[in-house]
Amino acid sequence: MEASEVVKIFDTTLRDGEQSPGATMTIEEKLQVAEQLVALRVDCIEAGFPAASPDDLAAVREIARRTKGVAVAALARATAGDIDVAWDAIREAERPVIHVFLATSDIHLQHKLNISREEALQRVKTMVARARAYCPTVEFSAEDATRSDRDFLCQVFDVAIKAGASIINVPDTVGYTTPGEYEALFHYVRAHVPGIEQVTLSAHCHDDLGMATANTLAAIRAGARQVEVTINGIGERAGNTALEEVVMALRTRPEAFGVETRVQAEQLLDASRVVSRVTGLPVQPNKAIVGLNAFAHEAGIHQDGVLKHALTYEIMTPQSVGWGDTNLVLGKHSGRHGLDARLRKLGYRLSAEQLKYAYKSFIAMAERQKTVVDHDLVYIAECMQETP
Ligand code: KIV
Ligand code: ZN
Repeated sequence: MEASEVVKIFDTTLRDGEQSPGATMTIEEKLQVAEQLVALRVDCIEAGFPAASPDDLAAVREIARRTKGVAVAALARATAGDIDVAWDAIREAERPVIHVFLATSDIHLQHKLNISREEALQRVKTMVARARAYCPTVEFSAEDATRSDRDFLCQVFDVAIKAGASIINVPDTVGYTTPGEYEALFHYVRAHVPGIEQVTLSAHCHDDLGMATANTLAAIRAGARQVEVTINGIGERAGNTALEEVVMALRTRPEAFGVETRVQAEQLLDASRVVSRVTGLPVQPNKAIVGLNAFAHEAGIHQDGVLKHALTYEIMTPQSVGWGDTNLVLGKHSGRHGLDARLRKLGYRLSAEQLKYAYKSFIAMAERQKTVVDHDLVYIAECMQETP
């Protein structure tokens, strides 16, 4: 069988993810996340933005020193000061990456940077070259690429590649694009930038319209071979593309994408929990892959189906992403089969008659308190032991 192409996972939980309101992490916590990302086998960890503060610089430096077997990136604006600090932070990494960015949309050039397109081109040329003089791997990002003039964007990428960038990122900074549009943009860039096939094209999406994962997958279909993602999709405003969603979409639907990642998917739940714990950002119960309800079947028909054959209502196994057994949440819609299965797991084998009574008590309890936890089930089962 032919090995399929690999899409690299560039994890930005510690940089863009940390930009989530309230998600600040200590150095110790960042190191814990980095350790989990290594266990997950991501390809690159974006450790932070060293020029942002002395704490950021110290954290990136520590991660670069201690993290082995993975590339470590540091973000820098296209200024000499940022690039010098970024290099200082990651110079001890096994595989350092300087990630230089400059906005390319007219809105940003005029209202934020107050520079012309010509000046932007010049800045990309000199700053990418400066970063390249330090570091063998330089990524260039055109901030707000999806609202930039396409031909100007291609000109910028051409200049960045000629100055030494080997990764070209096309960020949807404000979560504005749609899958069809983003896919077309990647095709356009591939058709109009001369050296583009010699570099890695990267996708970076935000979730303002809830399309970050769909947009990232569309970019992969159009040739992106690196995706920039965060655990649990945390990040600026509505967040970034969720790592776990892209990884499992590629794994569950290989015929749709034909590429794979190196991620150890069994580590996804642990990664989600570490990030949620250190950032204090809870994961919504209905979050794909890692939410408490992602593999929970409450309705009786669903529970019965899953117990007969998991594929009836599950497109991937919970174990494949780190969960234990399928999580049957018991509530008033649960059937007798579901109750019996859970009781057996808890060590109780009731007779048909006992189960009938147990089920009645269970429904009454579920109506009162919405969901019934194992502790309640033990109580019900114990009462039934006294029933013949
Ligand atoms: O969203 C964005 O444009 C970014 C860049 C710095 C890559 O995070
Ligand atoms: Zn971003």
